[in-house]
Formats: sequence, C-alpha cells, structure tokens
Amino acid sequence: MTTEAENETLTRVGPGTKMGELMRQFWIPAAMSSELVADGDPVRLMLLGEKLIAFRDSSGRAGIMDHRCPHRCASLFFGRNEEDGIRCVYHGWKFDVDGNCLDMANVPPHRDFKQKVKAKAYKAEERNGLVWVFMGDQENVPGLPEHEATLVPEEQMMINFKLRECNWLQAIEGEIDTSHLGFLHFGSVGKGNFEDATFRSTVANRAPEYISRETDYGAVYAAHRPAAERPGMTNWRLAHFLFPCFALPPLAALDTNVSLRGYIPMDDENTMCVILFKKDNRTADDWAERNAIAGGDDFHCLPNTTDWKGRFRLKENKENDYLIDRDLQRTKSYTGIGGILLQDHAVVESMGPISDRTLEHLAPSDRMITETRRALLRAADAYAKDGTLPAAASDPSAFARTRGGAFFTEDGADWIESYDEIMSAAPIASRIAAE
Ligand code: FES
Ligand SMILES: [Fe+2]
Repeated sequence: MTTEAENETLTRVGPGTKMGELMRQFWIPAAMSSELVADGDPVRLMLLGEKLIAFRDSSGRAGIMDHRCPHRCASLFFGRNEEDGIRCVYHGWKFDVDGNCLDMANVPPHRDFKQKVKAKAYKAEERNGLVWVFMGDQENVPGLPEHEATLVPEEQMMINFKLRECNWLQAIEGEIDTSHLGFLHFGSVGKGNFEDATFRSTVANRAPEYISRETDYGAVYAAHRPAAERPGMTNWRLAHFLFPCFALPPLAALDTNVSLRGYIPMDDENTMCVILFKKDNRTADDWAERNAIAGGDDFHCLPNTTDWKGRFRLKENKENDYLIDRDLQRTKSYTGIGGILLQDHAVVESMGPISDRTLEHLAPSDRMITETRRALLRAADAYAKDGTLPAAASDPSAFARTRGGAFFTEDGADWIESYDEIMSAAPIASRIAAE
C-alpha cells in the first residue's frame, strides 16, 4: 500500500521537493522544435512547477529561462526576440540563450554592471524535433540521453504532445498498466477482430500473469499468457519504466517497436504527454484500424494559446465528458469514448488532479505500479539523503538498448533471456548511428 506521505513524495515536483529535485537531475523534453521560430514569439512553458519562457534566437539556438527578468522581474514573455537575444521591454536589458546580460540599455556605460547579472537560464539542446532542457546544476550537465526513438531522423517519427490535467505519476501509471488493454480499449471485441497475433492473444485471455524487476534505469515487467492458437507457446507483452518519467510501451512486436512516452510534469496537477513512435513500424493505417476496433476516432487538439497551460489542450476534455457516446457504449465500444489515447486520458484524469493512493486496493495485475513506485521512492530518498543518483542520470547510453514490445516464446522460456536474444538481433537506432 502507498501511504499518504509516500504519495506526497511521489507526486510533488516543485523546487525543493524530493521528487522535483530527482527529476531535475535528468534531461526532460520541453517543447517541439517546430514551436520555436528564429526571432519569433517567446513561448510560455510550465515545467516542474516553474514558469519559463522558450525562444529561438537569430542564430537558431533554443533558449529556456525563468520568465522573470533579473532586473525587476517583469516577464520576458513580453520581450523582443531580436539580434541573438531577448530584450526585456520594461527597461531594455537584453539576455542571450545562456542568460548572459548583453546590454543594460537604461544604465550609463560607466555604471554598467552587466557582467555581474545573469538571467536564470537552463541548458537546452535539440535532437530530431524535440527541445530538451536540463533544470539541475548548470555546472554539471550530463549528455543528452540516447533514447532510441530520439535518435531516428525526425521525418521518420510521429511526435505528438498533449496536455493531461492530472499529476504526472498517475499519467505514467496508465502507461505501465497493461491489464486495462482488454477492457478499456478492447472490452467489446473478440480475437476475431485482430489480424495481429498478440492482440488476438490479449483478448483471448484478459487476465494474464505478471512478472517484474527493478533495473539500473528504472523497472521492467511483462504480462504473459498462453498464445492464442499456438499450443506450447507463450505470449509476452514487455514494457519499461525509465527514470525519471518515461515509459516504453508494448505497442507492437519487440523487434520493430521504436517508441517512447514521456510524462513531463508541468506542475503537480498538469502533465505534458510526449508521444513518439516510428512511422514505418506502426503506420497511420494500423493506428486508425486499431482505434476503430477500440470504438472511435483519435483525440483532437484545440488551437494553442499563450497561457502557461495553453499548449496542446484537448477538444475532448473533462468539461464535456470527453464527448462520451452512451449509445456507442451500449452497442459497440466498451467506453463510448473515441480512440485509444482519449480513453486513457479520460480514466486517468477521472482519478482527480492527484490520485489519493490510500484508497487503492492494488491487485497482482498492478505489480509494475508497485515496482515503479518503489524504484522512484528509493531514488528520491537516496538523492535527498546523500546526493546518490541512479547510474542512468549521468550515462547517456543507459536507455539506448531498451524497448517495449510483444514477443512469443516456447512455454517455460526465461523472459529476460528471450528479450535479450531478440534485442541483440534487432536493428537498434543507436547502434546504426554509431556504425
Ligand atoms: S525589469 Fe527587465 S529590464 Fe527592467
Ligand atoms: Fe491504454
């Protein structure tokens, strides 16, 4: 059982909180590269409870910093993005992407002290369509993590963001909870609906067994069940939790599933879901077909606003009950809510802004939830106690050879050995990039 105190530790992410400080020791995605235009409008970002602005300077470099000008705290959101820096409109002070003060326009030259002033800028880096930020110690910045899905050229990837109005932990727990697949998404359909052998197995047996373990980089688990129509074979759906807020779900077969899900805490009650998958292993057609089997269309984003929480809000949201269609629920779809991601969205937000975990009754099917909470609490406590971090925090390659995915083995085979065997033969993006 998770106590109230543990729930507090797990869910609070602002400056000075245990989980917030652990999160700050890792790179996290901040925005899509396409959101930032050279000399374009600054963008308001909310990350780990901090109000920030992001902008792209004249040279194309991305900058992310506290929105408050270090002079007298006017918001740099209103700033002029010009000539390789952002200029505060209040008194004209100007800062580059590293926070250096380039100009103190309202101070006579002989009284200028711009060398002594810095805006609170965070290290930002870009790779294949994502802008990442490191909000920890700016003197000690590790390399950007080599998640496989982030090493694939941008044009081969689907990259989606969407705002989820709840705490980050319940958002990511929805990702590592495979047993809902046969209910929330496919509760109204039988195996005859699927060509795919894994999905046939999933709905042929909706109550699988589970196995899990902690890893250096987080935790791994697999749901396993007899393979449908393959006597003597076992079907495995294996997924990972990666520090501090990422998951690798079993969306497709393990040997092809290049994907990543990030649940980036904006504050304690809002999360930016970052969804990456490689187009050629899970095409738009596949996705549309699976959504249709689940009983609906996909989610739709409203136009972005400039509010701190105005990016990637959903048209189908808690104010309109996610446009639930009760007739559809009676006749065709388990939920009456359109699309797999929207179904996830509705149930996870329905728990409230921060789920009260003292009310839960966890079952054997929640084994990975327990494993992940334990790994997070241990890591947060260790960092608070003496600064010890999981090895993955300082090792960019720690995640490079991990994937979620489905596979089949002979009955009785070892799950991790089988996983390693398939992975050692799979073409991994990091390995290809290095060759
Ligand atoms: S508050 Fe920004 S220049 Fe004065
Ligand atoms: Fe789901």
